[in-house]
Amino acid sequence: MDKHDGSDNNKKVGVLIGGSGLIGGGILHYFKTMNGGEFDLLAPNSKRLSLRDPDDIQLYLKRHTPDFIINTAITAIDSNPLLTYETNYRGTVNLARAAIDLGIPYIHFSSAAVMPTGDNLTEDEQLSLTPELANYPKSKLLAELALQEMHRRLGLDYTNIRLAVVYGEHDHKIQGFQRMLFALADQTMPFLFTNQQALHSYSNAKKVPFFVHHVLKHRQEFGGRTVHFVDPNPVSLSQLILTIKSYLVLKRPREIFLPYPLARFGADCMVALTRMLRRIGIESKMPPELMFLENFYQTQTLSAAKLRQSSFVDPNPQATIFTELPMLIQYYLTRWEDLNLLVPEDKIFFDPNKRAEIFLNKPEQILASLGDDVVRPFLDTCTWPRGGVVDSEVEDKERQNMI
Ligand SMILES: NC(=O)c1ccc[n+]([C@@H]2O[C@H](COP(=O)([O-])OP(=O)(O)OC[C@H]3O[C@@H](n4cnc5c(N)ncnc54)[C@H](OP(=O)(O)O)[C@@H]3O)[C@@H](O)[C@H]2O)c1
Repeated sequence: MDKHDGSDNNKKVGVLIGGSGLIGGGILHYFKTMNGGEFDLLAPNSKRLSLRDPDDIQLYLKRHTPDFIINTAITAIDSNPLLTYETNYRGTVNLARAAIDLGIPYIHFSSAAVMPTGDNLTEDEQLSLTPELANYPKSKLLAELALQEMHRRLGLDYTNIRLAVVYGEHDHKIQGFQRMLFALADQTMPFLFTNQQALHSYSNAKKVPFFVHHVLKHRQEFGGRTVHFVDPNPVSLSQLILTIKSYLVLKRPREIFLPYPLARFGADCMVALTRMLRRIGIESKMPPELMFLENFYQTQTLSAAKLRQSSFVDPNPQATIFTELPMLIQYYLTRWEDLNLLVPEDKIFFDPNKRAEIFLNKPEQILASLGDDVVRPFLDTCTWPRGGVVDSEVEDKERQNMI
C-alpha cells in the first residue's frame, strides 16, 4: 500500500467524509489554512467514496492508509429508510472497522436528535432504540450504540462529537437553523411555532474545526468519549425568532404563540396538500425540519460541562447565535437573493464595476473585452506574452501592469 499517496511524510494525513457539507466544509477549510502544516486532509466527494458502498471505502482507505478518519457525512434527513440506514449507520460502522484495522482514530459526528427532551442533559443520555423513531434519529442512535460497542469489544479509538442546532455560514442545503432563517426572510412563518418556555442548545459551526484539531492532538483525553460541542448558554427559540424579525424589520411572524395541536394540524394539512399537488404533477415539498415540530415546543438543552472541564480552550467565548446573527443574516440573505430564492421588493446590487449591468444589457461588450483578458497569462507558470499574437498596444499595457 502506498502510504498517503505521495504526500509529505512528516504530516499526518486524514480522510474526511462529507467535506462538501456545512460541518465538513468548515473542517476542510480550517485544515487547509489554519493548522500550521501539521495535517493534510483528503476529502473525497460522495461520487469518489460513497458511504453506501463498502468497496469504495475499502479501496480508498487501502490506497491512502490515513492517520485518522473524520466522518461528517449524512444523507438528507428525510431520506428513505434504506438510504438512511446505509449512509448514516452502515457507512459509519464500515469506517470504524477500517479505523480498527489501520489502528487509527475515528472522529464521528452525532446529533442531539439521539437524545430525549429535558434540561442540561449529560452525554450519557440517549433515547431508547425503538422502531417508532424517525429514520434520522434512529440511524444516528444506532451508529452511536455501535461505536460504543466497537470501542468496548474491539478497542476502537473514537470520539463522538454531538452537535445541537448548528449555526454557521455555507449551509448550501438550507437546513436546521438556516431553514428557519429562510422561512422568516421569505415571510412564510405567520405566527410563532413555539412557546415562551422552549429552550435549545446551539453549536457554532465555525468553532467545530478547532475542536476537531484539539481532539486529534489529545487522543488520551478524548478517546472513547462522547462530548457535547455546544455553546454554554441555551437559547430561547421565541427570543431568537423575534430578534431576527426585528433585524429584518419584518411584519411577520405576528407575536402570537400558536399552540402545538394547532401547529400540528396545520402541518398535517400542508403535508396532505403537497401530496395532492405531487399527484397532479406539481413539484412540491415540505421542509424536512417539520419532523422536529414537537421539539420547537419542548426544551432540549445539552450540558456543556464536559467540554468546559476538558483541556479545550474556546477560541471565541463571546460568540453566540445572537452575536453572529448580523453576519449570518448578511451572508444568507445576499446568497439567497443572488440565487433568486428570495425576491426582495427593491433589490439593489452591490456591483460597483457594473458587471451585472453589462451582462444584462450589453453582452457584446463582454465578448469584445475577451481579447484583452485572454492574452494576459492566468497562471504564474505561463511565459509572457502568450501565443505571440499580442498587438503592441496591449503589450505595453501588460508590461505596465506587470511592473
Ligand atoms: N447541521 C445541523 O444542524 C446538525 C445538527 C446536529 C448534528 N449534525 C451532525 O453534523 C454532521 C454534519 O452535518 P452537516 O449539517 O454538515 O450535513 P450536510 O451539510 O447535509 O452534509 C452532508 C455531507 O454528507 C455527504 N454525503 C451524503 N451522502 C453520502 C454518501 N453516501 N457517501 C459519502 N458522503 C455522503 C454529502 O456529500 P454530497 O453533497 O456529495 O452528497 C455532504 O458532504 C452530521 O453527522 C449531522 O448528523 C448536524
